[in-house]
Amino acid sequence: MKSSKNSPFNLTTIPKHIAIIMDGNGRWAKRNIFNRFRGHRRGAEVVPRVVTACHELGVKHLTLYSFSEENWSRPKEEVSALMKLLKEFLISQRPLLMERKVRLRAIGNIDKLPPEPLQTLHETMKLTQDHQSMDLVLALSYGGRDEITRAVRQMAKEVLKGNLSPEAIHSETISAFLDTAEIPDPDLLIRTSGEMRTSNFLPWQLVYTELYVTPVLWPEFNTEELHRAIHEFNQRERRFGLTSEQLSTGATP
Ligand code: IPE
Ligand code: IPE
Ligand code: MG
Repeated sequence: MKSSKNSPFNLTTIPKHIAIIMDGNGRWAKRNIFNRFRGHRRGAEVVPRVVTACHELGVKHLTLYSFSEENWSRPKEEVSALMKLLKEFLISQRPLLMERKVRLRAIGNIDKLPPEPLQTLHETMKLTQDHQSMDLVLALSYGGRDEITRAVRQMAKEVLKGNLSPEAIHSETISAFLDTAEIPDPDLLIRTSGEMRTSNFLPWQLVYTELYVTPVLWPEFNTEELHRAIHEFNQRERRFGLTSEQLSTGATP
């Protein structure tokens, strides 16, 4: 579905990769006098709608910040409720992933997840591994500095083994050692609920990503809000360090 005649939104260029910081579940719950868990549950219900909307637009990769490395320090009850929700979510999304041929992937230190959600995650990834219409990438137990640290450690091991020469380390080499190897950098980052920060999300990959922050809380995010974000993306000029004049004469970064 591209820009339709009646749509107020400019959807001419669809970002290939959209990353979302799904924030504001707690504030939504508080505003509605619910406990935080109700907020997380409502937040999880929004995900399939956004996956469907992205799939219909032709987005190729959708990365969702679902649980950060720092979120492990939240109250024990909240963490275990989120882990239970993760398992239920993965099972309930299988029909959608199968129907739309969406491949599930994960980034982050996933081995820190409890055995049950981890097993369900592995099973769901295996079930969808041949799907090619869109990647749904869940950032779980994810921290950008942790991802870079693990990559550097891995590279150091390869250097010690004689498989990698320090002179042969370029930025592409580093990208290839990250959890996001083979996934292009995001074109558009959406953060809900208004915070102007990236909270340890994809620090290496976001360097030239267009940032879009909306005050809308994640449980209230919907297709219209997604289209609004893409509309805004279409107003931007991505210069990648070049000048406007260079771009209009066809120079490529
Ligand atoms: C995002 O919502 C979900 C996770 C971080 C798991 P929050 O729980 O951070 O919601 P707020 O920021 O308290 O409103
Ligand atoms: C970022 O949200 C993590 C996720 C959305 C999973 P937080 O709510 O944890 O971020 P801060 O603490 O406001 O920076
Ligand atoms: Mg938050």
